[in-house]
Amino acid sequence: MGQPQIITAPDRQAVGREAARVVEAALTAGELSTLGVATGSSPLPLYRALAASRPEGLSEIAAFALDEYVGLDPQHPESYRQVVRREVTEPLGLDPHKVRVPDGAAENPALAARMYEEQIAASGGIDLQILGIGGNGHIAFNEPGSERISLTRVVDLTPATRIDNSRFFDHPDEVPRQAITQGVATILRARRLLLVVHGPTKSGLLRRAFEGPVTPDFPASFLQSHPQVTVVADQVSAQGLSTILAPAAR
Ligand code: GLP
Repeated sequence: MGQPQIITAPDRQAVGREAARVVEAALTAGELSTLGVATGSSPLPLYRALAASRPEGLSEIAAFALDEYVGLDPQHPESYRQVVRREVTEPLGLDPHKVRVPDGAAENPALAARMYEEQIAASGGIDLQILGIGGNGHIAFNEPGSERISLTRVVDLTPATRIDNSRFFDHPDEVPRQAITQGVATILRARRLLLVVHGPTKSGLLRRAFEGPVTPDFPASFLQSHPQVTVVADQVSAQGLSTILAPAAR
């Protein structure tokens, strides 16, 4: 389906700046009215770079978050509703009414997930989806075992993901056990994908994602089937990618 475009940068700040350029270019080209936003630490330098540059038209875009914990108070500082408000909506100057996050506090989370899928479709779809990658190859909260055809739904978080994400909570037991996540198929429907990866813990993951077998065991490998993927990575995480995929750093 075509190879990803891979841009490497020396460190996480530079990864953020390069990724911000991709978003800015899409805006300038008139190809960005709905942005998909990821949480986690990987996209933070990108959001900071965009907050600093505030390109023209940015404040008019709509946004959809990738996922949200189930059963966490929406006011909790680590709920993705709050993370998106703090890291994206406010610094980028977006209209809060145009920024949506799945309702993880809904009485019926499965129904809330289906409604979220419908909202994305009704909006005309996501033009540019920002993504990170989890240590076990998850994208959003599509844990290993997630199918290519999966849609927005309630999922159980793996013990590995709960341990990874305990860094954001006071106690590991506080990490929720479930989440609402956009599905693999939902993500692949976005017109363009922008994957940001940096740091020593991500070494080897890009190779598995783009040069390994396409399998639910490593959900990021499904990105191989999208025709328009841009990856911005530091050298450590790009290590191991074949030279065809990973050009020299800028
Ligand atoms: C979280 C999010 C993902 C994110 C991933 C990696 O669990 N649900 O969307 O990509 O973990 O996080 P980080 O960027 O902090 O490594």
